[in-house]
Amino acid sequence: NAETPYHYTDKRTAEKLIKLRDKFSHKGTFGHALLMAGSYGKLGAAALSGKACLRSGVGLLTMHIPSCGYDIIQISIPEAMAITDQNAKHLSEVTDLTSYSAIGIGPGVGKDAATVQVVEQLLDGINADDIKARLMIDADALNILSENRHLLDKLPENTVLTPHPKEFQRLAGESKDEFERLQIGIDFAKKHKVIICLKGANTAVIHPNGEVHFNSTGNPGMATGGTGDVLTGIVTSLLAQKYEPETAAILAVYQHGLAGDRAAEQRGQSALIASDLVEHLGW
Ligand code: APR
Ligand code: MG
Repeated sequence: NAETPYHYTDKRTAEKLIKLRDKFSHKGTFGHALLMAGSYGKLGAAALSGKACLRSGVGLLTMHIPSCGYDIIQISIPEAMAITDQNAKHLSEVTDLTSYSAIGIGPGVGKDAATVQVVEQLLDGINADDIKARLMIDADALNILSENRHLLDKLPENTVLTPHPKEFQRLAGESKDEFERLQIGIDFAKKHKVIICLKGANTAVIHPNGEVHFNSTGNPGMATGGTGDVLTGIVTSLLAQKYEPETAAILAVYQHGLAGDRAAEQRGQSALIASDLVEHLGW
């Protein structure tokens, strides 16, 4: 409510945020997302984020992957276009950014020295005047920020960050309990003018103004490798569709948990794998 900075995202709140698809819309209406993801042995993270991005309503998806991932991505996601990096095993360059409405980077990228350069070039590229793309950062791309702290000053306003507790600790420092972690998250979001999704049970979405939105969906079946990569795809998709970044983060986290709850209902929590989330996306 209006007096407190704490909010709770339930079904009613989430549904009010959804934009319906206009009858006369076309794929251009829903934006063009670029996902920069994958490294040798971690193309699965790229595939999961790509599929989730498409299942969340984006108009077009391009995936920038190391060249060893070309067949993997073209075969596993026929709906996506693929741009291969000149490097076989990890991302080492930034492509032309002009045609994208949103860019997501992180799933499976690793921390090769060349990929550190990629993160810096991407931030510089997005800060250039002619680029309008919204940005989200996850996984090792977050760890690259933590280990190269001058990059934090280059984060565009309203960038969405999706750290799990360890990634958040590297980014913003240690905390003795969840309450302190939340406060550190609020301070970080205000200071850097970014949106932070502090992932876990009841993921907290923190806005640059200090507002906190706790999520109501999700279950422990989601504590399994790859589910975070699915969230990256959803956030990037909603950003590409021109949802405000604050709204995109809240809705994506809600929808991600909802997919997890539907999947767990069907097959139980222990059997749940990240691909199941992709299959259960949708309103
Ligand atoms: N209840 C609800 N949701 C949960 C729970 C739980 N008990 N446990 C985890 N989740 C959700 C989180 O909220 C988050 O959205 O599952 C997702 C897990 O995301 P990550 O921790 O990022 O895991 P993932 O990315 O799939 O792990 C693969 O990538 O980011 C790196 O360091 C990470 O090595 C790891 C790898
Ligand atoms: Mg992760």
